[in-house]
Amino acid sequence: MRKPIIAANWKMNKGPKEAAEFVTNFKLDASELEKVDVVIAAPFVDLSVLVGNGFGVAAQNCSDQDSGALTGETSVAMLKEVGVEYILTGHSERRSIFGETDALINAKNCKILDAGLTPIFCIGETLEERESGKLEEVLKTQVTEGLKGICNEGILNVVIAYEPVWAIGTGVTASKEQAQEAHVIVRRLVAELYSTELAAQVRIQYGGSMKPANADELLGQADIDGGLVGGASLEPESFHSLIKSAVATVA
Ligand code: PGA
Repeated sequence: MRKPIIAANWKMNKGPKEAAEFVTNFKLDASELEKVDVVIAAPFVDLSVLVGNGFGVAAQNCSDQDSGALTGETSVAMLKEVGVEYILTGHSERRSIFGETDALINAKNCKILDAGLTPIFCIGETLEERESGKLEEVLKTQVTEGLKGICNEGILNVVIAYEPVWAIGTGVTASKEQAQEAHVIVRRLVAELYSTELAAQVRIQYGGSMKPANADELLGQADIDGGLVGGASLEPESFHSLIKSAVATVA
């Protein structure tokens, strides 16, 4: 049984003051946290404000190096020191705007796992790639390259986020059938790299305009184990509603 994981991705929104206000208005029941892992991925300056409130905290980026003359970078060890448990990798905005390659994303995934933290490893195709029939090919490259060198034990500590680029921040959500189909492909790719048994334990989140209005049907799909949520995670009520949808899927 895979525990659902709902993660907020605040992107470059909210400073420490707004993060503290969010925490004040965001109260989870212990029973919700028992059933669902809740995570907020926030800007670096908010992380210490968020840690220690019952939910998991994620950084949105990290260096693939340990230390040194790398102005502007933040190491995994530094993030661990402030209580971060998860780190996003491979987000499409980092791939497309900041030019992150599969090799760099792979190095970050390995560094994060070595430190005992959990990468939330994002993958997904553009509209052009989907329309030209390259969905599976693109996912295969991203999964294979991004997970290179990660052992059987390591893969169980990876959360994969399938985020079709055309659905991110656009208000256009993948239909539940499109999302489920892509998740099945991703799980099969993981099975090919590891085993069916291990792939069955790996959590795969859907991301891309998930919101209260579509969460029930997306989270109700057999291979969708949670969500990575941008816009709809910025208000406590809306984010909490997504968590309730995930709780409802747990018997
Ligand atoms: P969105 O963002 O929910 O605003 O589409 C998701 C993401 O980029 O992780």
